[in-house]
Amino acid sequence: MTIAPDLPTATDVTVRPVAGHIGADITGVDLREPLSEHDAEKLRRKLHRYKVLFFRDQHIDHAQQIAFSRTFGTVTPSHPYDDEAPEGYPEILAVDSRKYEKRFGRTKYSYDNQWHTDVTAVVNPPAVSLLRAHEVPERGGDTSWTNLVAAYEGLPESLQRLVEGLRAEHRFGGRRPQWSADSEYGRRVRENPFVTEHSVVRVHPVTGEKALFVQPGFTARIVGLSPSQSDRLLDLLFEEVTNPAYTVRFRWQPGSLAVWDNRATAHLAPTDLDHLDVTRVLYRTTIEGDVPVGPDGRESVSLSGAAFRGEK
Ligand SMILES: [Fe+2]
Repeated sequence: MTIAPDLPTATDVTVRPVAGHIGADITGVDLREPLSEHDAEKLRRKLHRYKVLFFRDQHIDHAQQIAFSRTFGTVTPSHPYDDEAPEGYPEILAVDSRKYEKRFGRTKYSYDNQWHTDVTAVVNPPAVSLLRAHEVPERGGDTSWTNLVAAYEGLPESLQRLVEGLRAEHRFGGRRPQWSADSEYGRRVRENPFVTEHSVVRVHPVTGEKALFVQPGFTARIVGLSPSQSDRLLDLLFEEVTNPAYTVRFRWQPGSLAVWDNRATAHLAPTDLDHLDVTRVLYRTTIEGDVPVGPDGRESVSLSGAAFRGEK
């Protein structure tokens, strides 16, 4: 986006932490206007500190969301598999219950209803994701995030040492895909698989913090363990990652926007709407990510599929 000269300004970005380990409310910014470099840098710093930033009453359109997204880096296409971006905006992923109903044949409010970090099946998962609420139900439909750094730091030292040496395979659907293999989506995943081996512990390239980089949405197995050993260890790690102590929950209104550090968090789409006949429409953008690095300096390795890049 165009960066305005860094003049003294009457607007003052205010940051109010929300939960004990994660999340901050941001006020004093109008995302219809270009940000000063001072404010942009402040938001990037706060994002790394609080992992997810919440904005209210930002009634912006697709172009303005894409422009604001550039504050955090290069904007990617909507999704490796998604070809239903709104006309003229290939960067926008519509998280639209009507689309999922058509695709999966049943009411669904996200393509993935498990805890997940966005698109970790690719070798360079998005660094940052932004999600803007357009139409939301009167009740229900909240999203939760968890702090993967807190999850790592909460492990006893012996388990930290154990997991630091491990690598895991990530693929769409993780251990248990939520779509049937013969669905159109299942076919798409099978014909163009993305599979990557990441370190179980990821070192954040900006903060240097260690994060427990596994989640049920994508992590399929721990490399080098038997299937039952892998399942039991993943159960333990998923329980840590989804510990309510490390989470924050956000109630959407039209014009709400959440920005999260996808290198240090996982999130959970709503699970409380399936019995309600409601429409929920949000729009996501993602920022091109780097290739994760483990504590031993080893990079992630793609086993199938290309890196996920945007246009510079
Ligand atoms: Fe997601």
